[in-house]
Amino acid sequence: MEAMTVSEAVVARRSIRAFDSRPVDPALLRDLLDKARLSPSGGNLQPWHATVLSGKRLDLLRQETRAAMLKGRDGVEAPEYQIYPSDLPDPWRSRRGSNGEAMYAALGIGREDKAARMAAVARNFDFFGAPVGLLVHTPHWMGKPQWADLGMWLQTLMLLLVEAGLGSCAQEAWSTYPETVKRVADIPPDHIFFCGLAIGYPDPTAPINSFPNPRAPLDEIVRFLND
Ligand SMILES: Cc1cc2nc3c(=O)[nH]c(=O)nc-3n(C[C@H](O)[C@H](O)[C@H](O)COP(=O)(O)O)c2cc1C
Repeated sequence: MEAMTVSEAVVARRSIRAFDSRPVDPALLRDLLDKARLSPSGGNLQPWHATVLSGKRLDLLRQETRAAMLKGRDGVEAPEYQIYPSDLPDPWRSRRGSNGEAMYAALGIGREDKAARMAAVARNFDFFGAPVGLLVHTPHWMGKPQWADLGMWLQTLMLLLVEAGLGSCAQEAWSTYPETVKRVADIPPDHIFFCGLAIGYPDPTAPINSFPNPRAPLDEIVRFLND
């Protein structure tokens, strides 16, 4: 198979939320993570840390999180950071809304079906059925610039996964269960847990893997000044 160009990988990458049953070769994943180390970071701090779960440990995280969810209010954990700013204004608010609606439409879930919507959100805590769940964390005192570096690393990894025929979905949803995640994955207590990354082979037949997810036009986000 001819190697993908960077452009092809950028265009092909999308969040994958349904996986087929093929396992991921640990040696392949190790190789991709080894390459992702070459991501840029301010001052070359390389603030990214990750814990890769599969097999029994991944099952344990799924079980423990399900148990916390079943406890209702008693299972709620104090978040270590706020995922979205409160009172998110437009256009960001409507982008978020459209993304959710497109996802529910792909799953055939109607506007009023709250139970089905909640069940769809809960799929996050199954890593969408992925055979590998990666957890991203960093020392808690790292600042905003270092958090941006975590994104550099994640995107590098996501593109490498695409090149290898794999798919992934970054998941901030996991940050709502930081205590369970950190306990089960043995994440150092002085680290803050950022997000999960579900990794596996995409199920090409699943509509949730192919709904359109448009982007804002270039001129809405980039200005070119030369005067
Ligand atoms: C840091 C980060 C966290 C995300 N968290 C979640 C999540 O918890 N659950 C989810 O279904 N998608 C999550 N996503 C996926 C975004 O919804 C997705 O990237 C966005 O809608 C653009 O779609 P695309 O990735 O398919 O191009 C996350 C993406 C990023 C970059």
